[in-house]
Amino acid sequence: MPLLTDALIATLRADTPGCAGPCVHFNHAGASLSSRQTLTAITAHLELEARVGPMEAAVMAADGVARARTAAATVLNATPEEIAFATGGSAAWGTAIASLPPLRPGDRVLVARQEWGGNLTTLRDKAARAGAGVEVIPSLEDGRVDADALAGLIDDRVRLVSLTWGAANGGLVNDAAAVGRVARAAGIPYVIDAAQVVGQIPVDVKALGCDMLKAPGRKHLRGPRGTALLYVRREFLDKVTPAWLDVQSSPWADHLGADHGPVSPRDDARRLESSEASVALLLGLGNALEQALALGIDHIRARIHHLAQGLRARLDALPGVTVRDIGDPETRSGLVSFTVEGLAGSAVRARLADQGLTLGANGVPYTPLDMTARGLTEIARASLSYLTTEAELDRLAEAVAALRI
Ligand SMILES: Cc1ncc(COP(=O)(O)O)c(C=O)c1O
Repeated sequence: MPLLTDALIATLRADTPGCAGPCVHFNHAGASLSSRQTLTAITAHLELEARVGPMEAAVMAADGVARARTAAATVLNATPEEIAFATGGSAAWGTAIASLPPLRPGDRVLVARQEWGGNLTTLRDKAARAGAGVEVIPSLEDGRVDADALAGLIDDRVRLVSLTWGAANGGLVNDAAAVGRVARAAGIPYVIDAAQVVGQIPVDVKALGCDMLKAPGRKHLRGPRGTALLYVRREFLDKVTPAWLDVQSSPWADHLGADHGPVSPRDDARRLESSEASVALLLGLGNALEQALALGIDHIRARIHHLAQGLRARLDALPGVTVRDIGDPETRSGLVSFTVEGLAGSAVRARLADQGLTLGANGVPYTPLDMTARGLTEIARASLSYLTTEAELDRLAEAVAALRI
């Protein structure tokens, strides 16, 4: 695998239309910039659909979609049979959660402080309808989930542990494997939201000990919007009952003759897919996945980590600017969160956008438990890619410094 030298980064940037301007993109945690090859994979298939018919084009592209599934499995150290595709991170997560056995009165669901707002709403709603409860696992001093405290919470009423692995409001990355050891030892279903991890940090679902894990294609994998990966551990499949079935998730021939009893869904993760999907987007995702694998996610990780630490140091040196990243500095992601005295995060974002710098800003609803625990209402969010350059970091730091003048 090639090292990410300056020369290679320059080539990769030249192959990325979004690197040619007009803006400098610091919102890879929202959605990254696709390569020209990924765009071509999408548009070429759309043209094929227009020429020969979408159903016919899908047959011609079946191998390409299978390759995408294999690449997704390789990225996660899973098998292709353990991968379902979905249309977005929340859709993948919601599909996974809806497939679990129903909660009962008194049941407990455990989450960490970084749980994504949408996940939390889903879990609270599901728990409230069942007379169950959602509880927050205590945190270590640095904000990461405390796996030992989790072990102390386990009893026979705990039905699910849900972990947002990488925070959406900063660089914190939880020790998902430590949580996995506790959940697995207790035999409790363990679901990971890896939206802010997959594509920028190596992932090994076996080492994590999770039952299901999801990530969207559009963030650190640089795939298209409208795509996501959902991993379902092979041995967990019998606990996964799709909320609904179709001709793909439960082909009719499988249960012809069955006497009105429950039908058996497919014997792989695709029991959570529907037959209708954008083949063009899946081919684009496949290209993005193969590109990430060719570069080596460990190399991607090393470069992003170095860049992010450099940006934190630059911002730390600025008066009136506070870097808000917590967690273990060694495991932080490329998501750099900060506040500027006297300016709301959204104002920071708007002022920098005026200068052609594209950042994110996160309020309480996206990471409610953590923002509330830390007394934060809004943070500005500069999220990096391996495509980011030192010169771009300098430009961002200068622009942030100028905000207070
Ligand atoms: C940690 C995390 N979970 C979930 C989501 C929502 O995913 P999606 O917008 O693909 O539904 C996001 C989006 O930023 C996220 O950062």
